[in-house]
Amino acid sequence: MSTALTINPLRKGDLTSVVSIEKSVYATPWNIEHFAEIVDLPCGLGLIACVDPGEVIGYAVGWVAADEAELANIAVVAEQRGQGVGGRLLREISVTARSRGADRMYLEVRRSNRDAQRFYANHGFDRVGRRSGYYSGPREDAVVMAVDLVKREG
Ligand SMILES: CC(C)(COP(=O)(O)OP(=O)(O)OC[C@H]1O[C@@H](n2cnc3c(N)ncnc32)[C@H](O)[C@@H]1OP(=O)(O)O)[C@@H](O)C(=O)NCCC(=O)NCCS
Repeated sequence: MSTALTINPLRKGDLTSVVSIEKSVYATPWNIEHFAEIVDLPCGLGLIACVDPGEVIGYAVGWVAADEAELANIAVVAEQRGQGVGGRLLREISVTARSRGADRMYLEVRRSNRDAQRFYANHGFDRVGRRSGYYSGPREDAVVMAVDLVKREG
């Protein structure tokens, strides 16, 4: 990456860039309303990774409910992967979730998405379950992973 990376809160004005990345990454992408709903939620978590001058290259979104956080979506543009951008987003959204009172963070990942499962495992997430037929387009089971945010903080 040639220019400095910054991690910023996700705002409504970023959603067009986010959705354009989303469409390039997923076969069944979220639309702008999915992301807008999270930005509007008082318990919503949303971060973007930017390179100068404000180009969005990745994002992470989720929410906190009582003492649990959910990481609902994370992606980095294909040509910028493997340089720590996803790791920065994951660490910062975990810190934000913890500061809002979450003790654990959960996520679902396609069973076939081994790269993402390895990425999460390298960041302290363990496999804690499976949801049968969770995904459509194509239909597939989800692996449920979780991390203890309190332990990781210490
Ligand atoms: C999962 C994802 C967000 C990770 O983002 P990233 O910026 O590549 O993350 P990082 O660079 O911090 O870490 C990626 C890991 O893969 C390795 N890697 C190397 N080259 C890579 C490449 N070209 N692409 C992806 N990962 C690569 C990195 O070394 C790193 O390994 P480590 O965790 O052992 O250090 C990104 O790969 C992505 O957008 N994937 C598609 C969307 C997706 O599957 N999201 C998860 C849905 S549940």
